[in-house]
Order: sequence, then structure tokens, then C-alpha cells
Amino acid sequence: MSGDETGYCFDTVFAVPPTATSVVVAPGAVRDLGALMSTRIAGRHAVIISDEAVFGLHGPVLQTNLDTHGFKTDVIVIPPGEEAKTAVVLEMLWQRLSDLGTQRSSVIISFGGGSTSDVAGLAAGTYMRGLDSVTVPTTFLAQVDAALGAKTAINFSNYKNLIGVYKAPLFVLADTELLSTLPKAAFMSGVAEVAKAALLKGGSFLEWLCAQAQELVARRSPEALREAVRRAVEFKLAVVETDPLDEGHRFILNYGHSLGHALEAVLPSGSLSHGQAVVEGMRFAAQCAPEGLAALQDHLFSRLGLEPSLMMTADASRKTDTEPSRKTDAEPSHEADAEHKPDSEPAGGHDPAQATPQIRIDDAFIKALVAAMLHDKKNRGSEQSLVVLDAPGSPRLLTLTVPELTRALSRFLQMSADTKALQE
Ligand SMILES: NC(=O)c1ccc[n+]([C@@H]2O[C@H](COP(=O)([O-])OP(=O)(O)OC[C@H]3O[C@@H](n4cnc5c(N)ncnc54)[C@H](O)[C@@H]3O)[C@@H](O)[C@H]2O)c1
Repeated sequence: MSGDETGYCFDTVFAVPPTATSVVVAPGAVRDLGALMSTRIAGRHAVIISDEAVFGLHGPVLQTNLDTHGFKTDVIVIPPGEEAKTAVVLEMLWQRLSDLGTQRSSVIISFGGGSTSDVAGLAAGTYMRGLDSVTVPTTFLAQVDAALGAKTAINFSNYKNLIGVYKAPLFVLADTELLSTLPKAAFMSGVAEVAKAALLKGGSFLEWLCAQAQELVARRSPEALREAVRRAVEFKLAVVETDPLDEGHRFILNYGHSLGHALEAVLPSGSLSHGQAVVEGMRFAAQCAPEGLAALQDHLFSRLGLEPSLMMTADASRKTDTEPSRKTDAEPSHEADAEHKPDSEPAGGHDPAQATPQIRIDDAFIKALVAAMLHDKKNRGSEQSLVVLDAPGSPRLLTLTVPELTRALSRFLQMSADTKALQE
């Protein structure tokens, strides 16, 4: 596949399964899907798997385009968000694929955010031992992260992403125009992932993001969106290529996610968006890094509108229920994938800014966070592996014992409380 003057294109080859995935990043690319598929796919039966909200907004354009290029299309609609990542939905997909007479020459098109690509990718990876698939991510987070790297999953037995396979689609088509309908909270989760990638990469990516923060966040300008996705894709593919099965270097993509996932697991559902939780996780990691990193990172976050969102208080009367509300991810690592908490947000996403949690710092809360962080299988015994940055572009793994982690968390939460007190 080659790029054109309006778009960008990257090719990468995954070691497993033996197939190449190309990623196209271009505004309006959905209108080229039929043409792209015609040249790459012999069969003419396409099954679109999409969530009901996304298909309502953008489905007709996609379907019409495929019709025009001679594809017979069927549509399977799944619930929006985490509700789609269940064994029940997966079984429903297998049943519907069977009812539709899906064959080995058929192609599955995943059309939605990371939840859709996770379950649709798993269906594509397992039905008839694997069908060709194409991913069209419709959230910012999915375009810069979830749709890349070939991981698929559903949640099971109260664990995030417990069941899944590696399944690389034939190509990923990231149409940045689709992001125009994305609600703010969902958009900001993508911004947090772009910030993570820029900090891990450093150099010109970080400089560009700092300079273009307004264009990207306040204006969602088409050029800034395309460039943000292009740079984030380039970064993630480079990491994944070195470690496709997540056995080593890919762990750096976990930056901000160790504490981020623990906060999502421990706080009441919907208290923080995934993006807010990851930002807190990156702020915590920066506190464990050499001096100067935190100030630089805070400057970037402030330019991007990624403000601190944990409101700590010593006032017991405002304490939230901080009992862990679910087990954390079975699969540890992760890119942002690992572990959003299943919840029941309305389509388009709950806006956590409306319900910033007031949390009392006490031993029970810190203990719950430590337990959630240690749950990660990548941790050895009772030690916590944390990705920290020595400087932008220089990530490394820091190993903390439980007492060290507990002290670091107490310091971080106290600092958040002090910041809040200063603001009041
Ligand atoms: N496999 C991976 O590598 C990987 C990486 C990161 C995250 N993930 C997974 O991704 C999931 C989260 O995905 P997500 O944040 O992309 O969102 P999502 O798929 O959960 O969707 C969130 C909401 O946004 C709506 N939406 C999607 N596109 C829209 C659009 N263009 N306009 C308006 N509304 C739209 C959906 O209907 C839904 O209500 C989690 O389950 C996480 O585990 C996987």
C-alpha cells in the first residue's frame, strides 16, 4: 500500500501472525475503504461489526462506499463501550457470522473504538480459525493506540482482557474526520495517550505536541489531528515491531498505566475517565523520576488541558468508597488496552469532569491501590515494576518494593492534597 498526497501510510510487519499490517492515516479515508479493499482482498463479502452509536453516526457512508465498490455487506451491531467486551457478545458474533454464511473469503470490518476492535478482532481471529479483517478506528484513543499492535480481548470473570488472541488486521484505516463527533471526555483520553507517546519518544514529537497543543485540543484542527495520529502511530508501531508479543520492550507503553489502572479499579465506576487516570499515573511516575521531569511534564499537560483530577482531602466526611470494586487486569502489560473498567457509560461517554472524586487519603485507600498495582502479572513477587522517564525519550523500568511503593504513593497523594489546599 502506498501513501498519497492527502494521507500518510506506514507499513509494518508483525512477527505473529505472519501477515503485514498497514496503517493509513488520512482525513476522509473512510470514503476510500472500498477502493483500498478491492485491491487487497479477493472476496466480495464484508461483515461490518460496529457499535450502535458509531454505526448510527458514520455507518451509512462506510456502507455506501463498500456497496459502490461491489461488496456485499452485512452489519452486526454490538453495544457501545465495555459492554461489548463479553463472552455473550462474542458468542453472538460467532452465531451471526454463521447465520450470514460467512466464509473464509469474507472479511470482517471492525468499525468503532477500542472496545469494538477488541471484540471484533477476537471474533475475526477465532471464527473458522481466523478470517481476514480490517480495522477502522473511530475514537482518538483507538487511532493512536487500541487499533495498533494486534491485541484483541474480551473481559472475563471480572478480569479485564483475560481472553484474547493476537490478530493483526490486513490494514488499519484511521480517518481523523470521524473524530469530529467524539465527546470531550473520550477525546481527552486520546490526548492523554498522545502525550504519553510524545513523552516516551521525546525530541521533535514532544516539541511538536507542545507547540500544537491549542490547535489539537481547543480547535481539533484537521492538520493537528492528522499529525498527532501519524506521529503516535509511527511511535507505537516502532515499539511493537521490536516486541510483538509483549515480552520486553513493549512494556514501556505501560507508562502511566500502573497507577492509572489501579485508580480505575479502586475508585467507584465512572469517577475518572481512562485519560484522567493515566495522567495521574504519569504524574506519579514523574515523581519517582529525576528532578525536572515532573515540571516539564506538567507544562505539557497544562498546555493540553490535562489538569490534575484527583481531589484529595483529609476530611473523612467526604470520603468515597475506596474498597476495590473489581479485580484488575489479568493481562498486565499494557498499552492503554489493558484495563479500562467495565462500566455503563452512556454512548459518547460519561464526563468525569462533572464528578471529580473527593478521596480521603488513608491507609486503606493506599493499601487498595498497592494491591491493585501488584496484581499485574508482570510484577515479580511482591515488587512493583514502574515505567519512569530519566528524561523525555529515555524510559526505564524502576522496581519498587511494597514499602517503597507505599511511601511513594503516600507522598504523591499528599502532594495532590497540598495542591488542592493551595487552590482553595
Ligand atoms: N487492544 C489494545 O491494544 C488496546 C489498547 C488500548 C485500549 N484498548 C481497549 O479499548 C477500549 C476503550 O476504547 P475507546 O476508548 O476507543 O472507546 P470505546 O470503544 O469503549 O467507545 C467509547 C464510546 O465512544 C463512542 N464512540 C466511538 N467512536 C465515536 C465517534 N466517532 N463519535 C461519537 N462517539 C463515538 C462509542 O459509541 C462509545 O460509547 C478498552 O476496552 C480498552 O481495554 C485496547
